[in-house]
Amino acid sequence: NLLIIVENSQVSPVVTQKAKERKKIIDGQYKCFEKMNRDQPYNKSGVQTESPYCNRTWDGWLCWDDTPAGTYTSQNCPNYFPDFDSTEKVTKYCDETGNWFRHPETNRTWSNYTLCIAHTKDKLKMAYILYYMAIVGHALSIVSLLISLAIFFYFRSLSCQRITLHKNLFCSYVLNSAFTIVNLITVVNNPKVVQRNPIGCKVLHFFHMYMLGCNYFWMLCEGIYLHTLIVVAVFAEEQHLHWYYLLGWGFPLVPASIHAVARKKYFDDNCWMSVETHLLYVVHGPIMAALLVNLFFLLNIVRVLVTKLRDTHRAESNMYMKAVRATLILVPLLGIQFVIFPWRPENRLAGEIYDYIMHILMHYQGLLVATIFCFFNGEVQGALKRQWMQYKAQWGQRRREHCSMRSTSYTATSITEVPTFMYHNDCNSEHLNGKQTEDSELVALKTGDTYA
Ligand SMILES: *[C@@H]1O[C@H](CO)[C@@H](O)[C@H](O)[C@H]1NC(C)=O
Ligand SMILES: *[C@@H]1O[C@H](CO)[C@@H](O)[C@H](O)[C@H]1NC(C)=O
Ligand SMILES: *[C@@H]1O[C@H](CO)[C@@H](O)[C@H](O)[C@H]1NC(C)=O
Ligand SMILES: *[C@@H]1O[C@H](CO)[C@@H](O)[C@H](O)[C@H]1NC(C)=O
Repeated sequence: NLLIIVENSQVSPVVTQKAKERKKIIDGQYKCFEKMNRDQPYNKSGVQTESPYCNRTWDGWLCWDDTPAGTYTSQNCPNYFPDFDSTEKVTKYCDETGNWFRHPETNRTWSNYTLCIAHTKDKLKMAYILYYMAIVGHALSIVSLLISLAIFFYFRSLSCQRITLHKNLFCSYVLNSAFTIVNLITVVNNPKVVQRNPIGCKVLHFFHMYMLGCNYFWMLCEGIYLHTLIVVAVFAEEQHLHWYYLLGWGFPLVPASIHAVARKKYFDDNCWMSVETHLLYVVHGPIMAALLVNLFFLLNIVRVLVTKLRDTHRAESNMYMKAVRATLILVPLLGIQFVIFPWRPENRLAGEIYDYIMHILMHYQGLLVATIFCFFNGEVQGALKRQWMQYKAQWGQRRREHCSMRSTSYTATSITEVPTFMYHNDCNSEHLNGKQTEDSELVALKTGDTYA
């Protein structure tokens, strides 16, 4: 579930915490003896109790019910050990005489647990692959985001509310990725540190949780901003950004702090590494809520977009292409993929494929967002081109012409046209001052024409 996805617990190739394993086994044993006392005596319907059967038993790891003679019984592998695959089966054979199978070598009753660890090597290898994939993804994300931020800060001509939001979102991505990498390298893959359990790793965990929250709440801010701009008020004047700052940087402190305090009090495991506590919902609950709200915003935005396009365009397929494209572009911006894919399939192969896809979506998202919203952005490309031309002209007579050229730059072909179309009220409002509604619509749709 999302818990695991957000926490990247599966990245860890490290085997830890013997004490917890023992506790689980003792709990299992206790429950088993309780169940054996509670259950009715063996009674196979119709057949008299004469027919042989194997007695209910506790084999040291799992509880087995009364079983008719001459049959195999099976259940899922226990989850005591990290290298046990709980989707595989344990089997136990009850022989014809009503005795549990005894292993020929030891002459002791024996359950067949071989399948539980049959794929452990593969899984360990995969854990390492995912671990390094995550680190590489976050590193690439940081580099691309820093370049994007440099571009956004350098070209003053780009600055507007939308870009300001992007800058904050990008910053939260950078910080989140940085904390994730530090956490992966210094704690997750480092059993000695976990063993020592220094206070620093809990502080790191707190900031990691906080940055995770910031990241998703800045996605929510982008969603709220877009939604306000497009659906609520088509002719929005400048929105008040301080509410966004409060929501994006301020609010995530609340769940992160509550989680830290509660964790200290009720589930104070080493470095707070464990993901097996419901306390994590304190952090993940608000994130899930933010994502759901964003999903609603996305659907509403697409609805408005389709309505607008339908009012003015004849060609249906063209219109849907635009809507689909706009949706696809906005999905990573708003983090919608995490809402769509929260369930890991039980099947082993499907589960592995799922892990890879989720890891790419999760750890390369910064790279994806930087690419779509900066490098592929028509305005940014225009600004970069102009800068390049200026260089080539050796700082000649030509003065900067950013402003006069801006109105044409955003018609340049790029896959960000749809968001540009939707945002045009904001960044280019100075060009439309005093014009009428229909004019701005026209500008928008002309823009829309260029990428068909
Ligand atoms: C065995 O089960 C059958 C129905 O499944 C029931 O009618 C019968 O009373 C049971 N006998 C005993 C001894 O529990
Ligand atoms: C099975 O359990 C019953 C009751 O606990 C006991 O009387 C019986 O001897 C056991 N049978 C075997 C084969 O261990
Ligand atoms: C295995 O153990 C059972 C019961 O402890 C005994 O009856 C049987 O003879 C043993 N078999 C061998 C091959 O040692
Ligand atoms: C245990 O199960 C595996 C896989 O089903 C099988 O290959 C193996 O022979 C079994 N071992 C014994 C001792 O029955």
